[in-house]
Amino acid sequence: TRPRIVVTRKIPEAAMEILREAGEVWAPEPDRALPVEELHRVAAGADAIVATLQDRVDGALADAAGPQLKVISTVAVGYDNADVPALADRGVVFTNTPGVLTDATADLAFGLLLAVTRRLGEGERLLRSRTPWSFHLGFMLGSGLQGKTLGIVGLGQIGQAMARRALAFGMEIAYSGRRRAPEEIESELRARYLDRDELLRTADVVSLHCPLTPETRHLIDAGALSAMKRSAYLINTTRGPVVDEAALAEALANGEIAGAGLDVFEHEPDVHPGLLELDNVALAPHLGSATVETRTAMAVLAARNTAAVLSGGEPLTPVKG
Ligand code: GLV
Ligand code: GLV
Repeated sequence: TRPRIVVTRKIPEAAMEILREAGEVWAPEPDRALPVEELHRVAAGADAIVATLQDRVDGALADAAGPQLKVISTVAVGYDNADVPALADRGVVFTNTPGVLTDATADLAFGLLLAVTRRLGEGERLLRSRTPWSFHLGFMLGSGLQGKTLGIVGLGQIGQAMARRALAFGMEIAYSGRRRAPEEIESELRARYLDRDELLRTADVVSLHCPLTPETRHLIDAGALSAMKRSAYLINTTRGPVVDEAALAEALANGEIAGAGLDVFEHEPDVHPGLLELDNVALAPHLGSATVETRTAMAVLAARNTAAVLSGGEPLTPVKG
């Protein structure tokens, strides 16, 4: 009998075609988020599950599927929604989609940086409110980027791509992280390695590119925000809980930092109401990888991972347990 493949959310057709060649595919029709009980029910008997970051991917899901489950492929690079050791214990291969969303996510991070420093959202709101305005030399001045320091927290693939964009805009690069980057990366990006406290104290823009883990939850809390310069900006395109969002709303309201650009939120899809009141924050609804090209590439990679494992081969991009 052909393998049963459960797809939890609608994915691009190019990926569905790969999956249909690999087995019998089930996906919710019409597309919707599956509540956990329903996810566990439809997972029963699955040989493979293609999941998204909205699904809790844990031992309970694997147990609901049954002992024949071979692989869970998530269509995302971040996998804080997954209990990787629990899957490894059950012999289930787990894969993510690194690499293919690097540029799209760095583009969005840099877009938020431009939006907040150049007050683009604020300017658009002004025009849409039909408020009278006229050009003058002191009108809606923002903050320039040339010669300023971008402080990258986590110089992985996306952090490096962000650094390349910043270099092209004439910024200087500093970074912090658990590990030092290879020397050739440091020299290509002219990146200075700093401990996190020094990075927070000296950067003009702090951009977060670390994964969400128990160690990085609330990495940016009230203390970190007060360590930052009053003229500094915070950009977050990784996962909301890396930032204490209530503390951020307060720091922004009190002028402890100059502004923020946020694509992710601590209690997604909710946004802290304090942030919605403020002009010095640029907001996007988790759009980091949201281009046609990138979402197709992510889903195709997840489908290839699935098909490889079902046919007894090695996955392309496994997450090691
Ligand atoms: C999106 O947030 C991802 O982790 O791919
Ligand atoms: C601005 O619009 C200028 O012409 O300097």
